[in-house]
Amino acid sequence: MKHLLNTADLSLDEAILLLDTTAQMAATQSREIKKLPTLRGRTVVNLFFEDSTRTRISFETAAKRLSADVINFSAKGSSVSKGESLKDTALTLDAMGADAVIIRHQASGAPHILAHSGWLDVPVINAGDGTHQHPTQALLDAFTLRRHLGGELVSAGELPSLNNGLGGDLRGRKVAIVGDVLHSRVARSNVYLLHTLGAVVTLVAPPTLVPVGAETWPCEISYNLDEVLRDWQPDAVMMLRIQRERMGSAGGGFFPSPLEYTRKYGLDEKRLGLLQDHAIVLHPGPMNRGLEISARAADSHRSVIVEQVSNGVAVRMAALYLLLAGETHSNDTPAKAGF
Ligand code: NCD
Repeated sequence: MKHLLNTADLSLDEAILLLDTTAQMAATQSREIKKLPTLRGRTVVNLFFEDSTRTRISFETAAKRLSADVINFSAKGSSVSKGESLKDTALTLDAMGADAVIIRHQASGAPHILAHSGWLDVPVINAGDGTHQHPTQALLDAFTLRRHLGGELVSAGELPSLNNGLGGDLRGRKVAIVGDVLHSRVARSNVYLLHTLGAVVTLVAPPTLVPVGAETWPCEISYNLDEVLRDWQPDAVMMLRIQRERMGSAGGGFFPSPLEYTRKYGLDEKRLGLLQDHAIVLHPGPMNRGLEISARAADSHRSVIVEQVSNGVAVRMAALYLLLAGETHSNDTPAKAGF
């Protein structure tokens, strides 16, 4: 694995390696001293062309916990045309000796161009490109699901074990992904990763918020949230943010009114009551409380939303470790490499 660009490209072995390494990283993060020497002397660039709070901070924290030097480059608002500015930026980063680039860009495909353009020859991590992909978010979601739902469903011995005892098995687990699928790179990334891991996904959204082509994705599609919760009984419900910034000034006519959207697709206590006891609730953040999720649902005992944020740091540490240290310690397990 040279880059981390798209969950659809991850093999089952690569996904499991990332998730198992995340478990090892997470274990180091409950220690009093959280910093590991693994990436000392390496420079990681955070190249953010689009707004972000948690993802940028999460990558920065992850790189620093591995002792890398971090350069934050916030390129939002650049007036240079996209292709040119990306090329010039890449050449500059190369000249400065960047060892890895983490990129968030409003244009779908920008990380792919950066990785394969030949402008610079370092690992590229996609931190979200347009409405396309956000692989580390899907990995942190899968890691969180494994922690809560892994286990019992597939009886031991039935199929070869998919993990090293570091996390659970998601085969057969049911995940409903609900809301603004049209604009969501989180939904796309999760559909492919969860499918690779053997989980079953149903997307739930109004027809106007389901992208053309979604019928070819490895998942089911429903327009009725109550039906899915009551009849399908998902093990996890992942709520998506309504992305108003991608809907145009008039709201784009994707739904009649916020109230109507909440009534049909919002997660509230009543809907939570339809779920099995073990079912959990996820949201990538930032949340529109009162729109796609009620405050009570967001803060309920089923919610793992805050835990997703902590798991994000461990996932990004694992990705940086495997892409950067992996090449110099190819025969070392993370444990042998000093943590
Ligand atoms: C997501 C994103 O940026 O795609 N947020 C995140 O990374 N935490 C989802 C969103 O913005 O709704």
